[in-house]
Amino acid sequence: MDHLTIVDHPLIQHKLTLMREAATSTASFRRLLREISLLLAYEVTRDLPVTMKSIETPLEEMESPVLRGKKLALISILRAGNGLLDGVMELIPSARVGFVGLYRDEETLKPVQYYFKVPKDLGSRTVIVVDPMLATGNSSAAAIDLLKEAGADDIRFLCLLAAPEGVARMKDAHPDVPIITAALDRQLNEKGYILPGLGDAGDRMFGTK
Ligand code: URA
Repeated sequence: MDHLTIVDHPLIQHKLTLMREAATSTASFRRLLREISLLLAYEVTRDLPVTMKSIETPLEEMESPVLRGKKLALISILRAGNGLLDGVMELIPSARVGFVGLYRDEETLKPVQYYFKVPKDLGSRTVIVVDPMLATGNSSAAAIDLLKEAGADDIRFLCLLAAPEGVARMKDAHPDVPIITAALDRQLNEKGYILPGLGDAGDRMFGTK
């Protein structure tokens, strides 16, 4: 997988435009995020290996592909990660799920950990980390540090919007972790928000603005 994959599917881009609009309601924002996450889940799992299995259709026997190899773990970076998690979980219901709680210190923009609960056998799973906004990259890089300490060694990062600064930070800290995003925006502002962006994803998703 390339270090950065931008999924420029027209359906995703259309829904993302609606999400960006300030006038979009909380309910619509949440629904659109869930819909996009289903489409992104398709892309983030595109290269998973398959093996052939003998099955019987009502008409005859056939060799048919099923997923092979390592199982999946989905890790949501709280709290906005949960918006992406829902759709991905729906597509991969057997995946184990973990949560990393990090908040961003508004002064330093550095991540502070407050929660960490992940499946025990991360080393034997393909780990998909979900967080809608890759902004400074500090929280994502810190979350991935923690996941690697917990044994994960096959990680991919799924987001909705990325800033060039965040992509560079991740490439520097975790060059082995591919990033899959729906769009790469222009830059960060002085508060670490993505421009043009969509605002605070957590606030828009949960209506806490
Ligand atoms: N987190 C958000 O929710 N939005 C941004 O633009 C940056 C970080």
